[in-house]
Amino acid sequence: GAPVEVALDKLEEGQMIKVEWRGKPVFVVKRSQGVIEALQDKKDGLKDIDSTKYPKQQPEYVDKINRSIRPDISVLVGICTHLGCVPQYLKEGEVDWGGGFFCPCHGSRFDLAGRVHTGVPAAKNLEVPPYSYLSDERIIIG
Ligand code: FES
Repeated sequence: GAPVEVALDKLEEGQMIKVEWRGKPVFVVKRSQGVIEALQDKKDGLKDIDSTKYPKQQPEYVDKINRSIRPDISVLVGICTHLGCVPQYLKEGEVDWGGGFFCPCHGSRFDLAGRVHTGVPAAKNLEVPPYSYLSDERIIIG
């Protein structure tokens, strides 16, 4: 599949854009400063908190905690790592678990870095696709 460009200039805090890359949904979310700090401060309740258990779930150049190149922009493959359903995006404040991604099939929850919660069927964090910045306002996935 061809690489996919995504413009970030119209993306507002808390907003998610869904694009398709290689037939898969990819979620691009703009995080607030509060979300960035909450991700950093989280100490438990996650199965792979620092992305070390499953190193292939993200490219090596992303941060191990927020799992992105730039802390305010999250890029994640929108496919549940349990059995492949498409999770729903839920904003910070919309739910009592901090927001992120909820899989309607069997209830797996992922935080706003795509890190899987404990106590759900999925084991791995959501995949981070390969991507890079073409400019401050534009990324290319793939
Ligand atoms: Fe997502 Fe089972 S496919 S929880």
